[in-house]
Parts: sequence; structure tokens; C-alpha cells
Amino acid sequence: MQMTQALKHYLKFSDLTAAEYAYLFERTALIKQKFKAYEKHQPLVDRTLAMIFEKASTRTRVSFEAGMYQLGGSVVHLTTGDSQLGRAEPIEDSARVISRMVDLVMIRTYGQDKIERFAKYSRVPVINGLTNEYHPCQILADIFTYIEHRGSIAGKVVAWVGDGNNMANTWLQAAELLGFTVHVSTPSGYEIDPALAGVHSSCYKVFKDPMQACAGADLVTTDVWTSMGYEAENEARKKAFADWCVDADMMRAAKPDALFMHCLPAHRGEEVEAEVIDGPQSVVWDEAENRLHVQKALMEYLLLGALK
Ligand code: CP
Ligand code: NVA
Repeated sequence: MQMTQALKHYLKFSDLTAAEYAYLFERTALIKQKFKAYEKHQPLVDRTLAMIFEKASTRTRVSFEAGMYQLGGSVVHLTTGDSQLGRAEPIEDSARVISRMVDLVMIRTYGQDKIERFAKYSRVPVINGLTNEYHPCQILADIFTYIEHRGSIAGKVVAWVGDGNNMANTWLQAAELLGFTVHVSTPSGYEIDPALAGVHSSCYKVFKDPMQACAGADLVTTDVWTSMGYEAENEARKKAFADWCVDADMMRAAKPDALFMHCLPAHRGEEVEAEVIDGPQSVVWDEAENRLHVQKALMEYLLLGALK
């Protein structure tokens, strides 16, 4: 249970500084290179990660679980249904108990307040694996993917087409911290909430028309129309979002070398046309794979600090 680093949580993108991100992106490249070369990299031998899922997952589960094993550690997987979390044990008590037995905790849940409360009572670092408000690990992977393909994201334009959701909020936080701009287009009633994201107006611009948001963009990105937890709104959302489907015309409005990203899972024919997500500008498979590599760098950093 020894940490060589002061207790540091990763609950939202703005929990780390630009300098820490620069370190993490460099470290991720090294860790990825070792993984590709089948070279062992096991700084977390004997360390345990508890993963708590209150919502479904494929990428987050596999990347954290495989990543922790590859780093030499092990994992415990909990869900609401198979733990006392689903039987109303207070989150504060769960945090006190779980964090005495493991070295690191990853949580996917509903309200951000829940993960903040858990972190307050945790003895070990807590990582946000998605809340209704934020998805920092995904944006970490997205920006690493952008850098791999195109170099620094500073000064670039990211077009966000669709829901003003957890992904959109996190893109705003990243833009403010790393110096790029988000051009946002959402249907009315589904706008972004800059106050919630805690950002200044200089890091984003709002457009009614999604084509205008995409004009001249370096990266076009979107997400499902209905996020987990909002399923009851599905039919209303399908109507409201009909014009917010990323298609070939939107990609043509962006820069000729613009990339397309989607955190996945995707619904072809809803938020994105198949010809875009399966087309030459799409980097969604690299983006998904990079969840593994960035989170290995993140777990190592939270437990051991910056390494040479
Ligand atoms: N992008 C993402 O977080 O995927 P999962 O819901 O499959 O974890
Ligand atoms: N916005 C989506 C992202 C899924 C990875 C959701 O919260 O369901």
C-alpha cells in the first residue's frame, strides 16, 4: 500500500496540469512502444486496482483490467449488482473499506458527486472511468491519438457535433488547459454547460449549424445521442438530433487532413454515417486502443509519480 507520490485523484480532466499531461503523453508513447515490442514493463507488481462499474462498459473494463495485469498488478471487479453498493451501503463506508485493501480505484458511475464523495474518504487514488458529467480517460486517449497522427493539439480546432454531454464537458476542460478551441454544435435543449465544465468562453465557440462548427476543423468528433442513464429520453432525442449526424459533407467542410474520432460504442446512421466512421479520416480504432496505453501511464503516475 505504499505510495511514492502524494495522494492524487483523477476525477476530471482539470485535475492535472499541462506539464503533467506533457509527461503523460511522452510516457504513454514509451509504454505503447514496449507493449508493441512484447517488452515487459511491470512497475506495479503486487499492486491491486479495484474497478467499480455502476454502468455497462467494454473498452474501459478491458483497458483497465488488461492494463493493470500488464503492469504486473492485479484487479478486483465490482458492480452495483454484485456488491453491497447496490444494497445501500453508504459510499463513504465503501470508500473507507475498499481503499484499505487495494492501491487504486477506478469508478464508473452516475453523478460526479458520488465519485467526489468516494475520493474524499479514500486512502488511495481514485480514477473517473466515466460519470454523467465527465469522461477524462477518454479525452486523454483522444488527445494522445491526435498527437500521434498530427502532432501538438495546441492552437487546433476540434468540432463537437451532438450532445452537450460528459464527453463535450471534458473536451472543454482539455481545450482550456492545453490551448485549443472547441467549435460546438448541439440541438437546442442539449447545450453544453461551460459553468459545469468550469471553463472560460475563450476556449469554445457555439454554432447553431453543425456544418459551420465543422468548417476548417482539424478534428471532427461526436458521441451517441443518448448517453447511459438517459435511456428514457431516447425517442425525443432521436427527433431532436436528426440533423446532428456527422456525414461526408461535414467532413468535407473540415480541413482536408481532418481526423474523425468517436469514443465508441457508435450507432451508424444516427450520430455518424458509416462512410465517415469506416472511412479514411477515421482513427476510432487507434483511439480505442490508446485507452489501454494512456491509462497504464496514468496508473503508473498516480502510484509512483513521474519516472525517468
Ligand atoms: N468509450 C468507452 O468508455 O467505452 P465503454 O463504455 O465500452 O467503456
Ligand atoms: N456519452 C456516453 C459515452 C459512452 C462511452 C455515455 O455516457 O453513455
